[in-house]
Amino acid sequence: MTKSPVLPPELTQKSHDFMARMRRENERYYEGTGKNRSAFVLTFGCQQNEADSERLAGMCEEMGYKICSEPESADLIVVNTCAIREHAEQKALSIVGQYKHLKAKNPALIICVCGCMVTQEHRCEDIKHRYPYVDFVFGTASLHRFPELLVEKLERGKRIFHPTEEEYLVAEGLPVRRESTYRAWVSIMYGCNNFCSYCIVPYVRGRERSRRPEDVKAEVRELVEQGYRDITLLGQNVNSYGKDSGGGYDFADLLRELDAIEGDFTLRFMTSHPKDASNKLIDVMAASRHIAHQFHLPMQSGSDTILHAMNRHYDTKRYLSIVQYMREKMPDVTLTSDIIVGFPGESEQDFEDTLSMLQTVRFDMLYSFIYSPRKGTPAEELEQVDPKIKSERFERLLALQGQIAFEKNQAFVGQTLRVLCDGVSKNNSALYSGRTEGNKIAFFEGAPADTGKFVFVRIDRADAFAFYGTKQQ
Ligand code: 5AD
Ligand code: SF4
Repeated sequence: MTKSPVLPPELTQKSHDFMARMRRENERYYEGTGKNRSAFVLTFGCQQNEADSERLAGMCEEMGYKICSEPESADLIVVNTCAIREHAEQKALSIVGQYKHLKAKNPALIICVCGCMVTQEHRCEDIKHRYPYVDFVFGTASLHRFPELLVEKLERGKRIFHPTEEEYLVAEGLPVRRESTYRAWVSIMYGCNNFCSYCIVPYVRGRERSRRPEDVKAEVRELVEQGYRDITLLGQNVNSYGKDSGGGYDFADLLRELDAIEGDFTLRFMTSHPKDASNKLIDVMAASRHIAHQFHLPMQSGSDTILHAMNRHYDTKRYLSIVQYMREKMPDVTLTSDIIVGFPGESEQDFEDTLSMLQTVRFDMLYSFIYSPRKGTPAEELEQVDPKIKSERFERLLALQGQIAFEKNQAFVGQTLRVLCDGVSKNNSALYSGRTEGNKIAFFEGAPADTGKFVFVRIDRADAFAFYGTKQQ
């Protein structure tokens, strides 16, 4: 029998009991003051972290906190950190550093740091010693214990450092406070088994564990009923969904069942690993009603030598064969990828092989990163590429991709696309913005009532990053 990765119900209940206790305490404490106890949740990193933060905010609300958008007005600050690159860690540490003066002004303020960065023992120690005003710390495996740790901190007064649990499990039924009323994240699995030689994720998120199909289906069905229009399924490697559960039910099976749900919604997923991207999955996408013809397939490098050193378990030939099959079945597919520049040992030739793969595949969009050594990963031990060379290659990669994206986007000029409107653009308040089925940004003149709705936009102009168009009535 396979072991269930789901948190035993009595532990979920315990979490709810602590939330109820906190809520009662909060009410008593604030009775008659006319004030609201408020919490600020700050998120670094990927969508998985965004999804976790929506649960942290949900738990805060359940405990009687009002969510606020400024740390200055908060009585509880939760910083959900990322560890993927040095830069992400430095940003989080610098923000936590700035909270020192908030604590000085408001000694009752509780500061909590959680997430991937502090799941690493050495970062947890850093916080303990260098940030003495941080009240408690917990790792990614302990999300459900947040209320318990908060109560413990408030009742005993001692600082708490809890980087990990004995086991990483799936907590069902925690409250969630979604950021949007029309776009939603749904985690379908957690953790990673791949151990790519550059990556910290398996060390900070544990082994792969899949949610039960019935739990995922119930959540998606509920979201659609509530009017959500764009639902993204999340996992570090969604293509291995179900493998840990046994029984042969896989990601393509899950997608097929979710696609059968009635309603006006788009389904997406991320992230896929090329070693497990199956033709069956592509066939399900191609035949679906709701699944966006959009695929994020991280290539990481276009050199077989480097892919081998990265422990990726595919080569460029296999990568190209997936792309070919995908384009055969879905000629309109939007294809995006991740590339790491300057992995240890990357020669000029290896890098040129990456550029040449970009020319062959012609991605719609790339997320490119300069390799950042991560403590405890195998690649950290290898001979590093000179930082100047890394930056210079990074610029060359951006320039080439900019040109390809520009050219690809021109093909859409004159077409009318369905766009999910996100309201007034953050960068240009004269325009509204939204996302196409391929998840590209489109700007247009909209109206308040468009927000959260599908609108049709004729594309008048395109650059490498966005479309500009006219809304059709
Ligand atoms: N340095 C740079 N980029 C990294 N990524 C993962 N680990 C590292 C690292 N150590 C990139 C990969 C991955 C994306 C989420 O982040 O491209 O797909
Ligand atoms: Fe997400 Fe990975 Fe960063 Fe954690 S380390 S927040 S899983 S990108």
